[in-house]
Amino acid sequence: MDNKIIIFDTTLRDGEQSPGASMNSGEKIRLALQLEKLGVDVIEAGFAAASPGDFEAINEIAKVSSKINVCSLARAVEKDIKAAGEAISPAKNRRIHTFIATSPIHMEFKLKKSPSEVIKIAENAVKYAKTFVDDVEFSCEDAGRSEISFLKEVVDVAINAGATTINLPDTVGYRLPNEIYDFIKQMREFVGDRAIISVHNHNDLGLATANSLFGVMAGARQVECTINGIGERAGNAALEEVVMAIKTRKDIFKNLYTDINTKEIYPTSRLVANITGMEPQANKAIVGKNAFLHESGIHQDGVLKHPETYEIIKSCDIGLENDNIVLGKHSGRHAFKDKLKFLGFEPSEDELNSAFEKFKILADKKKDIYDDDIRALISDELVKIPEIYEIVTLSVNSCNKGHASASLTIKYNDEFISDSALGNGLVDGIFKSIDRITKITGVLKDYQVGAVTKGKDAVARVVVKVEFEGQKTVIGHGLDVDTMLASAKAYVGALNSYLNLRR
Ligand code: KIV
Ligand code: ZN
Repeated sequence: MDNKIIIFDTTLRDGEQSPGASMNSGEKIRLALQLEKLGVDVIEAGFAAASPGDFEAINEIAKVSSKINVCSLARAVEKDIKAAGEAISPAKNRRIHTFIATSPIHMEFKLKKSPSEVIKIAENAVKYAKTFVDDVEFSCEDAGRSEISFLKEVVDVAINAGATTINLPDTVGYRLPNEIYDFIKQMREFVGDRAIISVHNHNDLGLATANSLFGVMAGARQVECTINGIGERAGNAALEEVVMAIKTRKDIFKNLYTDINTKEIYPTSRLVANITGMEPQANKAIVGKNAFLHESGIHQDGVLKHPETYEIIKSCDIGLENDNIVLGKHSGRHAFKDKLKFLGFEPSEDELNSAFEKFKILADKKKDIYDDDIRALISDELVKIPEIYEIVTLSVNSCNKGHASASLTIKYNDEFISDSALGNGLVDGIFKSIDRITKITGVLKDYQVGAVTKGKDAVARVVVKVEFEGQKTVIGHGLDVDTMLASAKAYVGALNSYLNLRR
């Protein structure tokens, strides 16, 4: 059996199914390039048949990717498989991932199909997918609650039809590690070398990483996971946890390895948090902001005497490095460029100029600019969408008795338009003023605000999800030390994104 564990990243597909995590096409491409740098083997770029936007994003990723395998998900129906095959066609290495549910509850209530019908559908789906690509993955959705004798029948048919990877998801995160071990071991013995066995575990009981690792111990050679563990409901197995466990516990995993460049883990985690606005919890393993901090005196003393007293991983191994240079308003273009290089960014000359301009504006408002501030700023810059509306000025007024009000001037086609509105709070007032100026009404579906780094003058990151004209929900980001200005930028960013999609 091969010792390499294939890392199949599904941040752009299952991860994007997290409530509040949708990404626009530019963001998806930026993330795909970062995943390639991270060294993942397969990237599930989306679900091509879900919408024209999804199709386009997968297709663009397929065009820009060089060595990575680009995969699209497809239900076991011709229309989905055709869309998947067409979307990934520009990629050098490509895969179609088709699936159908195999558990009694899914077959009876969701699919309303008999087991023999499901087997036939699976066979036809794999055969049809093979007409587009050689590399076909077949998943038995809800395998974790399926009957093993039936799974063996379906899997056999799928392999004979040409599936090269068999994925056995614990779709609802129900299983315990010892159960996954026994299950994968049986399936592995049944399949032998006819196909690679893959695990895909959800985190409903907080066991997704443990279950994936037990799957690997039992013979799975592909793990499906997401950055920061984002995903449907409680999420998926976190890539950084699976990879670091395999690397750190060589005594258990022996010669097993992944091709992940672990130094890219932290930059990738920050990018996902910046794009989606979903911060990993502070105590999240590997990438949470407390993951390498020692608070108690006893621990600090131990670490000073010998780091391994309380540290099993070095922060630099995941790319959390510090050059001890904090930028500020006296830092010049050279220092800024050096810092970007240190953080692993290689912007074009135009991107650098524009990012430097933003940095200078920020440095006027904020004394110390930390690495995570720069990461947030450059992430915004690298996924910039054309600015149709641009905020010129914002002023707000609020008191604890009475209404809040906001006045804005916005630039549109070289014209400066000003208006004001009252609101139930400042954010409401700002968004209403923008609606009045642009004459496009948005319905706010989600609003998140967080501080990028520490201090009273910390940069606020606002992420909004807005539905415009009852048609499409888009997301927008805003960064500023002023939370209200960050909110206005996020809302106008969402509007620009919507208008660009409409063009
Ligand atoms: O959780 C799941 O079962 C899935 C499949 C579509 C692979 O995401
Ligand atoms: Zn899933």
